Amino acid sequence: MTTDHAIIPSPQETGQMPGFVTVEVMGKKYRVPEGITVIQALWYTGHEMIRGIGCLGGTCGACGMVYRMPGRFELLNGLGCQTTVRDGMWFSMVANYPAAQAQYRVSDLTNAKEQLFELYPESARCVNCNACNRVCPQGIDVRSSIWYAVFGDFQKVADLTMSCNMCGLCITRCVADMPPNLIGLYARRAQGALYAPQAEELGRRIADVAEGRFRDELDQLLTLDPAELKARAAALSR
Ligand code: SF4
Ligand code: SF4
Ligand code: FES
Repeated sequence: MTTDHAIIPSPQETGQMPGFVTVEVMGKKYRVPEGITVIQALWYTGHEMIRGIGCLGGTCGACGMVYRMPGRFELLNGLGCQTTVRDGMWFSMVANYPAAQAQYRVSDLTNAKEQLFELYPESARCVNCNACNRVCPQGIDVRSSIWYAVFGDFQKVADLTMSCNMCGLCITRCVADMPPNLIGLYARRAQGALYAPQAEELGRRIADVAEGRFRDELDQLLTLDPAELKARAAALSR
């Protein structure tokens, strides 16, 4: 699918320069330097991008995008800061896709594995279409994570989804209308708070802090100027 809009040269371009590719952004074609990312192409062509951009390093998940390539029928996906432009690419950003996020406090959960079906009843509707796996830019086995959640193996969900960056692209494709990433987040939270063995050392240290064991030391640090703080930090790192 293409449009017949005229190509709009970028200000820096003086003609059919080698090293440039043609991309289509919101119905207009531009020529941009090859090798830059989709977000850089948006900036290059004068699009003001404020929302939908965060780390620029592929970890915050803010920059989900969809695109098509000539001669291919599929809708493709990626992260705008990690996907480089290619000739003929037609793309749009997909920031902040709407999703029904359940409201809960982990500390109030009493039987999190059963409560999954109260908070996210749609989690039981997976039809194994695999669309979530195909769209995930992190290569997560999202489909399996949903099944593990449904069968109460939250540890397995956590293992599978730990690299989820919450880009939300799986939500855009789920034919069962569920938010797989939010279900994974719920399972990870519940697993960490309720089911995983508690770290004894961590518990002891939290109790120490609560009892004020480090109060004097902290008060003394707060009296130091930046140079003294730096000297202390340098001494500790030796
Ligand atoms: S599981 Fe969903 S939200 Fe997480 S990285 Fe994959 S597509 Fe993005
Ligand atoms: S996209 Fe939805 S229905 Fe399809 S496999 Fe993934 S979770 Fe299941
Ligand atoms: S801006 Fe953070 S993942 Fe792209």
